[in-house]
Amino acid sequence: MGRRCLPLLLARYARVVALGRRRVFPAHERLAEHVVDFERLAEQAELLRGDDLFCCLGTTLEAAGSREAFRRVDHDYVVALARLAHEQGVRRFFLVSALGADAGSRVFYSRVKGEVEKAVGELPFEAVHILRPSLLLGAREESRPAERVGQLFGRLAGPLFVGPLARYRAVPAADVAAALVGCAESDAGGVHVHYPRPRAGRRHDPEP
Ligand SMILES: NC(=O)c1ccc[n+]([C@@H]2O[C@H](COP(=O)([O-])OP(=O)(O)OC[C@H]3O[C@@H](n4cnc5c(N)ncnc54)[C@H](OP(=O)(O)O)[C@@H]3O)[C@@H](O)[C@H]2O)c1
Repeated sequence: MGRRCLPLLLARYARVVALGRRRVFPAHERLAEHVVDFERLAEQAELLRGDDLFCCLGTTLEAAGSREAFRRVDHDYVVALARLAHEQGVRRFFLVSALGADAGSRVFYSRVKGEVEKAVGELPFEAVHILRPSLLLGAREESRPAERVGQLFGRLAGPLFVGPLARYRAVPAADVAAALVGCAESDAGGVHVHYPRPRAGRRHDPEP
């Protein structure tokens, strides 16, 4: 997701700072990319200075290997990032969450996503924008067979999800990136939840 956001961020902002556990972006004169240890983020808090922070951090239960490890990334890292960013003067926080996020859910994944939304939404940012996409098409670089099957199903079943079910349609990662960065156009304060959908006329996401 982050790599889809970068060109949009560079088009909007004079300076972009990217944080990750490894370098992934091609060099750009207005991009400062930093490798950070999310377990010790407080030691690099000064990197979090800026106006807006866009967070696409997240793993899967499969990749994390345990519920605890998943929660560490999708909840603890994100909340720590948001707290430090607020302390450093960041005004707005933009978060990619997931459809079904609900702190009261009996489903572990949805509960963790709901809890992170709640924790971030309680911080006194000027605005928090939360995106809850369904399955992302063309998102991850790693090859994950189960996700590939899900993506194929998502492409085939997409036309069945109409009306109130439209938010369940799989959505190209590029469209979610556009929706995420597009939220920065809003002057509205407070917490906002968005359900990104495939852009009109788009049938599928081109492979990267
Ligand atoms: N994929 C979907 O179908 C889907 C659906 C709904 C919501 N979402 C949510 O959308 C967000 C972005 O997901 P994505 O599918 O775009 O995934 P992605 O491409 O794998 O991006 C996730 C980011 O999190 C980083 N990350 C993962 N594990 C980490 C760890 N242990 N320590 C530090 N950084 C770590 C990744 O770093 P590396 O580049 O180094 O791996 C990457 O920068 C996530 O919050 C996810 O839950 C995804």
